[in-house]
Amino acid sequence: MSLQDAVYEKYQELFDHTPLLVRSPGRVNLIGEHTDYNNGLVLPAAIDKNIVLAIGKRDDHAVHLHSLDQNQTYSTALDELVRSPLLWPDYILGVAQQLTKRGYTLQGFNIVFGGDIPQGAGLSSSAALECATGFALNELFNLGITRLDLALTAQAAENEFVGVKCGLMDQFASVFGQKQRLIKLDCADFSHEYIPFNNPELRIVLFDTQVKHSLASSAYNERREQCEYGVSLIQKHHFEVKSLRDATLEQLDRYVRPVDEVVYNRCSYVVSEIKRLQDGCDDLKRDDFESFGKRMFETHDGLQHLYEVSCEELDILVDLVRNNDAVLGARMMGGGFGGCTINLVKASEVDRVVKEVGEAYTEKTHKKTQAYVANISEGTARLN
Ligand code: GLA
Repeated sequence: MSLQDAVYEKYQELFDHTPLLVRSPGRVNLIGEHTDYNNGLVLPAAIDKNIVLAIGKRDDHAVHLHSLDQNQTYSTALDELVRSPLLWPDYILGVAQQLTKRGYTLQGFNIVFGGDIPQGAGLSSSAALECATGFALNELFNLGITRLDLALTAQAAENEFVGVKCGLMDQFASVFGQKQRLIKLDCADFSHEYIPFNNPELRIVLFDTQVKHSLASSAYNERREQCEYGVSLIQKHHFEVKSLRDATLEQLDRYVRPVDEVVYNRCSYVVSEIKRLQDGCDDLKRDDFESFGKRMFETHDGLQHLYEVSCEELDILVDLVRNNDAVLGARMMGGGFGGCTINLVKASEVDRVVKEVGEAYTEKTHKKTQAYVANISEGTARLN
């Protein structure tokens, strides 16, 4: 049975009426990592793995939720939107709370959802659930919210309700994805441009380390603070520098390096990465994938040695393909400390690369990697 049918059937079984169905995808990011919350640029795309969500109105103020994957049900009410002990309801409740906070009037609702986005793999299954929820509530109650505001509401839910101070990349990619196109998003003003990515000779292959180290979210918030501290050191001399987007390597050398070497490393990675993304987009416009791939390896080096958000398993996966002619580029992807690497692989060599990397990873780590070929797909949409 398809995911859509399974979600629909479960909804009918639990609530006995016909729901509205939506789907919202996970994402990859080609280059531009840890730049979104520094007002920088990112280059994500929605992929062909989704959360599918069924929703229907209630006559009261109750909220009934069911997760197909966890096989768990959770019930609460609109005037009691607080964090749940189960975690997964928080991505839904957080969005409902943010909508209420923004003055939208909701009524009670039922939700059943499931997904095929691997969880904990850094493919943003939680952002997809938030975006599916916002989109579904918008449709159900005719709220008239724009796609940009849906993405911002979903991000605010993650920041304020769930407590991860993430940037806008994941939610924006889920909502704004388009088939075979990357999104070059400028996080300073949310302007964006689509860059075609449809070379039939290349595939995006993800290798999942199958690990998620526990320091991930605290380290994420710490990196963000270090970047803000770096900016504050420059600001004492250059009032106009409001974020690392405005900073130069010379300013970092002069004002940050003498005070704190670690903060300098963090900030210099970000400033270089913003430039690398811009150069990488020029490569793509010239179809120069060789050059783009080299920049992906450089991004990994920066994330490993300067930003220090990689881990042994991610480094092993990247090192395993560094000298492989079939792999143009590879790097860790997303927040770090586990999850996936993203690899640009020659289409004709995918099977061989997947087999070789899989075997070598197990030999080195005694763990298994899971490989996924990611196809770039449409963003959040209604299914019925
Ligand atoms: C996570 C966050 C994003 C972004 C990436 C790192 O995926 O949710 O906002 O900061 O990490 O690029």
